[in-house]
Amino acid sequence: MKLFLVFFCAAACFAADLTGNWASGNAGADGVARKVYFELKQDGARIIGHIRSTQFYYTIKESTGDASGFTLTAGMMDGKSERTVRYEGKLEGEELHLGTRRNATAPLSQLVARRVPDGEGAYPARIPPPALHKVPANGLAKAPPMGWNSWNKFAGRVDDKSVRDMADAIVSSGMRDAGYVYVNIDDTWEGERDAKGNITSNKKFPDMRALADYVHGKGLKLGIYSSPGPNTCAGYEGSYGHEEQDAKIWAAWGIDYLKYDWCGARNLYTDDEMQAVYQKMGDALRVAGRPILYSLCQYGRADVWKWGPEVGGNAWRTTGDIKDTWDSMTNIGFKQNELAQWAAPGHWNDPDMLEIGNGGMNDDEYRTHMSLWSMLAAPLLAGNDLRSASPGILAILTNRDVIAIDQDKDGKQGHRAWKSGDQEIWVRELLGDDRAVAIFNRGAEKSEVKVKWGELEMRAPAKAMNLWSHQDEKLQGAELTASVPAHGVVLLRVH
Ligand code: GLA
Repeated sequence: MKLFLVFFCAAACFAADLTGNWASGNAGADGVARKVYFELKQDGARIIGHIRSTQFYYTIKESTGDASGFTLTAGMMDGKSERTVRYEGKLEGEELHLGTRRNATAPLSQLVARRVPDGEGAYPARIPPPALHKVPANGLAKAPPMGWNSWNKFAGRVDDKSVRDMADAIVSSGMRDAGYVYVNIDDTWEGERDAKGNITSNKKFPDMRALADYVHGKGLKLGIYSSPGPNTCAGYEGSYGHEEQDAKIWAAWGIDYLKYDWCGARNLYTDDEMQAVYQKMGDALRVAGRPILYSLCQYGRADVWKWGPEVGGNAWRTTGDIKDTWDSMTNIGFKQNELAQWAAPGHWNDPDMLEIGNGGMNDDEYRTHMSLWSMLAAPLLAGNDLRSASPGILAILTNRDVIAIDQDKDGKQGHRAWKSGDQEIWVRELLGDDRAVAIFNRGAEKSEVKVKWGELEMRAPAKAMNLWSHQDEKLQGAELTASVPAHGVVLLRVH
């Protein structure tokens, strides 16, 4: 009997050992399996190891329990802050059943992991960043780039057809002729690398070259997305260790624009190394054989505006991701004042893509969005479904007088010149003797704002054209009274 018990326990304990490499996730409709890996070692009463999930690579810091029921708390450094994740799970037969929550109130997301060979999904070793040097300017983006990007509306649902549809719609809606020429595919186009390490597109994009030909045939340009890390933010293949190879492939496809998103690079490099890491792709694009606009996306970390031009960057994100809400848009847009000095022809501050037309704001709020981004000399990348855009939304996106502010050849970003409570006046110097003056009302009630030119350090203008009503304002010498809708703007071009 005793012997039987010992035998039973040994078998059960052995079977219940979590040590090994476990993976969860099957290929999705795009043919790509974005697996979550659990590389576990049961060490006495502790479970140690690593968890690799989308762009993140965690080290297990704490555990409780054993195969019959356990929890894992894992962490990683992300810039200067620690990011943690917590799993709870148990072994059921050959399957590891796990659950995790994004935060305390989020629903439990459940996954099932199975044993895979050791080494599968192993995190790549760190490649030391190169020494710094200056990447020569590529001569692109003399004015802030304009176009469309898939992320805000489509996220992972972007595919060949939607990109072609959007190219058609940009032309038929008049947006191309108003200046929107880049059609940019964001994350989730990536497939696996082939045996030679060449990046492929996934099933959603059967033929990138053909897609580029189609887009180019409409007088438009095609953009793509990648990351300096092993994985993109959505967990697809990044360009880590393949920078030159990828740049050459994109050039061969006919790509004209790259958005390069930090994402998985956070596991391998510190923020202090960002410049060197971005320089690597800047160099790769230089020798790729095609002019490719280089847009840096690292959420405004490490004072990117100070070194963005040095790595060949044409634009750099200054903030985290925008959402289609008044709070998100204004929190981002009105915080850009201090960065004005860093914008210039060839390289621009990028407060993220437009949400105009995505439904979360009203037309007055979207006019504020469009006006503010134009005052900021920001890239204008529409983020809505252009196939179903209403005439009102298209009128906001294609207002040529407002676009002319954004695209002004002097390339000087506007600044806050006056503020009182919810009312703000921003001024942008334009080429020649013109100024753009934006009177914003961030309050929830309509407001009369007195504009005193002297307070804006301006002489009283001879002429003031209202760029949304398309009418000249009545000028009354030293002052002008603007009636500004709730969450709205009066945007003037004064001479
Ligand atoms: C990050 C970027 C977004 C978008 C997603 C794609 O969050 O900031 O703009 O590109 O990644 O995964």
